[in-house]
Amino acid sequence: MRQAGRYLPEYRAMRKKAGSFVTLCKTPELACKVTLQPLHRFDLDAAIIFSDILTIPDAMGLGLSIRENEGPRFERPIRSIDDINKLGALDPATDLAYVMNALRLTRNELNGRVPLIGFSGSPWTLATYMIENGSSADFRRSKSLLYQEPEALHKLLRLLTEAVSSYMIEQVKSGAQVLMIFDTWGGILAHADFKDFSLAPTRQIISNIKNTAEASEIPIIVFTKGGGPWITDIAATGCSAVGCDWTVSLGATRRLVGNQVALQGNMDPSILLESPEIIREQVRVVLDDYGGGAGHIFNLGHGVSPGVNPEHVAILVNSVHELSQTSN
Ligand code: CP3
Repeated sequence: MRQAGRYLPEYRAMRKKAGSFVTLCKTPELACKVTLQPLHRFDLDAAIIFSDILTIPDAMGLGLSIRENEGPRFERPIRSIDDINKLGALDPATDLAYVMNALRLTRNELNGRVPLIGFSGSPWTLATYMIENGSSADFRRSKSLLYQEPEALHKLLRLLTEAVSSYMIEQVKSGAQVLMIFDTWGGILAHADFKDFSLAPTRQIISNIKNTAEASEIPIIVFTKGGGPWITDIAATGCSAVGCDWTVSLGATRRLVGNQVALQGNMDPSILLESPEIIREQVRVVLDDYGGGAGHIFNLGHGVSPGVNPEHVAILVNSVHELSQTSN
């Protein structure tokens, strides 16, 4: 996840030339070029389309901007139940045509070299950004809505479930060969709330996708940051793979969920800031924890942070390929 991004000088140059992150996302030729940047440098086994989870709220009328060092912001965040009632339905083929065009271009450029991953945020995670107007330390507004007006939050989640389902189905029609759902903020929910507010909408999306002829066979990965306590529930959503952050043991998770899903993950991204020796050693720790055999997609437990030396990403990728020859 976040293969491309600020740790790459060629990405920073491209963003500067384009003028903004949002322009990069909305210009299919540039989004395609950025998607391919990490593949020119590293021996990766998949490409993830360059975009953002916040394209959906933007297309629903909230007006997204992402300024340097400020994170995402909306011109019109959700501030009242009225704002939820005013949200329109989404037609991804037209409202998000730029994402579909970027997928088509990139699939064509990749020409079968590696599979292309499309993605979306989960309804809960998208709702938090729409309500908080960006990232948040305590998710106060989202939690207040959850406890004071649960029906209003459910309504927003239903709208987002519809939007994400049709968006992801359209991505498959446009060339995505794998789909990934990012539930970045599922882990901040209380135990009693996770299933209703995060898991249920994700399960519904998977069912909607699987019930669509053109997308019924697509592998779907679900990543919930901090999702350790609910890993068996996540594995039972109908997804093909569960993305794990670095707080869980891949080996223990494999024993817990059996063979029903692949596991993706889960090296702590901060290890990329350490020396090549430590990176290599920690790759071995993750591979040993999984314990060999099929069904492991090596990944970081979250995105690459901006300060990482790209050489370190090369060391990671090469170590995974080399050390997994003996472990798998
Ligand atoms: O590898 C790729 O090219 C995939 C691209 C990708 C981006 N965002 C590009 C991006 C993906 C898969 C995402 C997903 C995403 N976006 C998530 C889910 C995954 C996760 O990280 O938990 C979330 C929560 C977002 C929302 C978002 N977008 C935030 C919070 C930020 C700001 C981050 C920060 O550190 O300030 C973004 C911006 C963003 N999305 C950048 C990139 C490369 C950095 C933008 C820039 O300044 O150039």
